[in-house]
Amino acid sequence: MTTITDAQQLVAQAREQFATCGTAAELEDAKARFLGKAGAITTLLKDLAALSPEAKRQQGGAINQAKQAIEQALQARRDELAEARLQARLAEEAIDVSLDGRGQRRGGLHPVVRSWMRIEAIFRSMGFEVAEGPEIEDDWTNFTALNSPQDHPARSMQDTFYVDIDDARGQPLLLRTHTSPMQVRHARAHVQRHQGAADMPDIRVIAPGRTYRVDSDATHSPMFHQFEGLWIGHAVSMADLKGTYTAFLHAFFEREDIELRFRPSYFPFTEPSAEIDMRFDSGPLQGRWLEISGAGQVHPTVVRNFGLDPEQFMGFAFGSGIERLTMLRYGIGDLRQFYGSDLRFLEQFHAA
Ligand code: DAH
Repeated sequence: MTTITDAQQLVAQAREQFATCGTAAELEDAKARFLGKAGAITTLLKDLAALSPEAKRQQGGAINQAKQAIEQALQARRDELAEARLQARLAEEAIDVSLDGRGQRRGGLHPVVRSWMRIEAIFRSMGFEVAEGPEIEDDWTNFTALNSPQDHPARSMQDTFYVDIDDARGQPLLLRTHTSPMQVRHARAHVQRHQGAADMPDIRVIAPGRTYRVDSDATHSPMFHQFEGLWIGHAVSMADLKGTYTAFLHAFFEREDIELRFRPSYFPFTEPSAEIDMRFDSGPLQGRWLEISGAGQVHPTVVRNFGLDPEQFMGFAFGSGIERLTMLRYGIGDLRQFYGSDLRFLEQFHAA
């Protein structure tokens, strides 16, 4: 009888001890205390040897039941510990997908770049090519080819930054003062490409990019952006310039109530030369003439420098400031805001 009670008590003890084991190793130690070679259950079984067959059967059955119950309790605790380990690991390795990202702030395009892209798209839609060229230009292409020979007073209109080294042909190098040298580069390449052809397709191109001058105030920056326009054919006139530029302005400002006027001016590379002024017929700037571009009919000397006969080919050119157009489009008062890197200013254009 004692043994049966002992066996039942052992089950209770085992359950209790297994429950306090926090690790698999502790649990295996506890198991040995009951089921191991010198364990409590094993000892009870050994003691059976001394009993009568009848008592052996009875008590043996009780001990085996206890043994099974302890094995079950052991397995149950093993499962619990394994489950706890798994949960702990899952918790440790968990990625909280509901958490905000780590401050990856969204960038946006600079307002000048937005205008640049719009200008390209608008002129492409009118059949113009888009060309880009070097910001470090040689003296001949920036000035001489555009009919501003050395020592010509017109050069002083555009003071710039010179580079100390000359190019391979001994030409002084400088930061280009305008995009106009792209007229020369593009036209010469175009002429070369169509050499020997029965007739040359018109040159119709815009060339946007950075330009440099020794200038700095509310409306001038030492680095600024222009886009050059050039259309050369057999009978391209100032009337075509007016039509083209009007269509461009309507598209750029997304409104039709814009008037244009050509005001006589002087540029060495055009004859006649004009300033293009525009005015809005409504809105805050209503009625004010705003100067937006230099333009003119390309000078015969420049046409000759393209490699073309000015008796055969004629056309117009213009050079406009991208900042200026951007300021008018968004109502920006000070050019320097474009270059201040102030996010409060720049972020306003992210969704523009
Ligand atoms: N290159 C001139 C400037 O930067 C602008 C200009 C005027 C360009 C007349 C032209 C033009 O193509 O025809 O001031």
